[in-house]
Amino acid sequence: MSFDQTRWVWKNGQLLRWADATTHVSAHALHYGSGVFEGMRCYETPDGPAVFRLHAHLERLFNSASVYGLNIPYTVEQLATAVSDVIQRNEFTSCYVRPLCYFGSSSLGLHPAKCPVEVVILAWPWASYLGADGLKHGVRITVSPWRKFHSQMMPTTAKACGQYVNSILAVRDAFSRGFDEALLLDVEGNIAEGSGMNIFVIKGGTIFTNDEQHSILMGITRDSVIQIARELGYLVETKTLTVEDLTCADEAFFTGTAAEVTPIRELDGVSIGDGRRGPITAEIQDTYFSITAGRTDLHRDWLHFVAPEPVCR
Ligand SMILES: Cc1ncc(COP(=O)(O)O)c(C=O)c1O
Repeated sequence: MSFDQTRWVWKNGQLLRWADATTHVSAHALHYGSGVFEGMRCYETPDGPAVFRLHAHLERLFNSASVYGLNIPYTVEQLATAVSDVIQRNEFTSCYVRPLCYFGSSSLGLHPAKCPVEVVILAWPWASYLGADGLKHGVRITVSPWRKFHSQMMPTTAKACGQYVNSILAVRDAFSRGFDEALLLDVEGNIAEGSGMNIFVIKGGTIFTNDEQHSILMGITRDSVIQIARELGYLVETKTLTVEDLTCADEAFFTGTAAEVTPIRELDGVSIGDGRRGPITAEIQDTYFSITAGRTDLHRDWLHFVAPEPVCR
């Protein structure tokens, strides 16, 4: 994929052409990863493009920023409007949206006190992160030799740029060994999460996932899927997940804005369940996609319509 230079980017309150939305090589964030970001998806619906759980993502962005002392000089509502503006100006019907706030250029001491806070919002078309085939048939994953950092080392519930070098190491290793994705264990050797996605396992009809005690980012897709699964009548429990829980599971899947709901079919050569997308995973996936596509009235409040929603439908 290469980016279309004619697209529009929102930068510090202005819409600029992609090619003009630049930053200086002395920016603090470029050297030290001192920025925070979000990833959200805008889906095509019968009532126009809609961003899935926009306010939950913006809330997490502000929380991540406050952990790192980044004072975002905009309100949540200003950034919500900016997200809509970027999507509309680019005339996207569906896209991925990436708000990023970072310390810019002023000094390169580790304390970024004097560095300006820059805010940008990018958007581009992005197919499902683990591929259409992965969505349908499941992905093959491997336990990463890199552990997920503990929340006492870095705030795992914040989505900060520099924290992602851990994920980059894991995913590069997994790809180099022919797998689709990495599974990171926490420092105690229990399951944490994928490089950019949370994990669920299903055993005997009950759905299990882990939580922040296992150094995960608390995903918004994870939260959505927990609600969906309970509404479908499934018992969802939060617990410590071991590698054995995964290899002995009937079904397993990843959740994330980029990866959406992607079945896991194999861990290090061991088939999970029947080695394909399981029936409960399929049911949750179908419900998730019918919500994001606006094909149901269920959780319509999760959709933020880019243009005002029509009064009559
Ligand atoms: C490390 C990590 N875990 C989990 C997730 C899933 O979070 P969400 O569902 O909010 O996209 C992401 C994606 O943002 C992530 O980067």
